[in-house]
Amino acid sequence: MTLIAQITDLHLRPKGLACYRVSDTNMMAERAVRSLLSLTQQADAIVVTGDLTDRSDPREYAVARELLSRFEVPVFLLPGNHDSSEGMRREMAGYPGIGENRDGKIFYSAMIEGIQLIALDSHLSGHPQGYLGNEQLSWLEAALRKCDAPTIIALHHPPALTGIEHMDNMGLNDAAALEEVLSPHTHVQRILCGHVHRPIVTSFAGKIMTLAPSTGHQVALDLRENSPAMFNFEPAAYFLHSHSEKTGIVTHMAYVENFPGPYHFFADQGVTWPGDEN
Ligand SMILES: [Fe+2]
Ligand SMILES: [Fe+2]
Repeated sequence: MTLIAQITDLHLRPKGLACYRVSDTNMMAERAVRSLLSLTQQADAIVVTGDLTDRSDPREYAVARELLSRFEVPVFLLPGNHDSSEGMRREMAGYPGIGENRDGKIFYSAMIEGIQLIALDSHLSGHPQGYLGNEQLSWLEAALRKCDAPTIIALHHPPALTGIEHMDNMGLNDAAALEEVLSPHTHVQRILCGHVHRPIVTSFAGKIMTLAPSTGHQVALDLRENSPAMFNFEPAAYFLHSHSEKTGIVTHMAYVENFPGPYHFFADQGVTWPGDEN
């Protein structure tokens, strides 16, 4: 069984600073890393789907390097709107695919135990919205033709709407072009995104698309029109995408915090329940 862990939207800050004054994102990311390292089955790879940092500050990338160096398995990165492609290339050099410079963007493919991971760069400088661009989309088209292994596409901005309006307003500008590229390729089995800071499942281009919750603060669930942009501290979590011949790709959500249990389902020894006497 192959296990790909996805963490997202760490929004790291310089040491000692909180995000938006109240969200201690560094501490929460540290807890997520500890949680991943204590899993009974260790991940074969980690994918970080953007917003590693809150302001693309070199001091924030330094915190990211320190944190991610704790993993002994490959770590795949891609930028979010809060990062920058240039900052990431400069500060996170050495991570797979980061050094490749095409159109100023970071995009690459990698094989993880028979699964093809394609990381896309939807960062659009100076804007919260996402944009892939023609060069990246042409490369994607060629990459999908070249390899027909089960494929996971990872990008920060979800290309489909979620119903959380203030986040949908910061969506992927060239989603229609991406849909055209992805639609014919049946070996694309998942699209993994971040950005919305909530666990969400929908579809795009006929594929299952999942949005992972943040390791830090979450976006409030508010599906009304003109909903205000608010965040809260619902339980932080991450996704584990598992794959085997038998199951195909299955996505599990795992919480960072520990909860009571586990307990056996067996009835207590020697206890007779009313109605069991006969
Ligand atoms: Fe984010
Ligand atoms: Fe984002």
